[in-house]
Amino acid sequence: MQDTAWQASLILMSLVGLGFSYVAIQSGSRDEDYAPMQKRAYRLRLKLFWALILVFGPAMIYTLTDLPYAAALARSAQDTRTPQVIRATGHLWYWELSESHIDAGQPVEFQVSAADVNHGFGIYDPDMILVAQVQAMPGYVNTLRHTFEREGTYRILCLEYCGTVHHAMMTELTVARR
Ligand code: CUA
Repeated sequence: MQDTAWQASLILMSLVGLGFSYVAIQSGSRDEDYAPMQKRAYRLRLKLFWALILVFGPAMIYTLTDLPYAAALARSAQDTRTPQVIRATGHLWYWELSESHIDAGQPVEFQVSAADVNHGFGIYDPDMILVAQVQAMPGYVNTLRHTFEREGTYRILCLEYCGTVHHAMMTELTVARR
């Protein structure tokens, strides 16, 4: 996925570069009236604008209605069981957890904070799919509730760029049935 994104970026960047080179080469060689050209460009720009609105407007509305947060909040509000509380603190560049073993099927409440700068507390399941996340901020405790149904090794990664070793800011959670 990352490789694909990188290759797509490279292609797009080359196209933009080619466009700039073309304009730079053409700029010296012509001497004509710019008014009609400007008119055409503005018409094209207006068409492009509406095309973008038509394509991305519905896409945005669709993805917003599909956000998982409301459903997750409703589920945790209905769950009256006492959660297992885990304190999590982000440091440059590691996570400190008060506990890393979790019972599958039991609600967990993470109390997430940071010791230095802002970090992003992201929990990934054994397939490296993001299952829950919250900001880790110095001076604040953000709570994140989640019930882990599936057993296995989960990973906590930092979701907010926090310096040179941000990418290695990782720890693990073990979820098992008792
Ligand atoms: Cu901590 Cu990025």
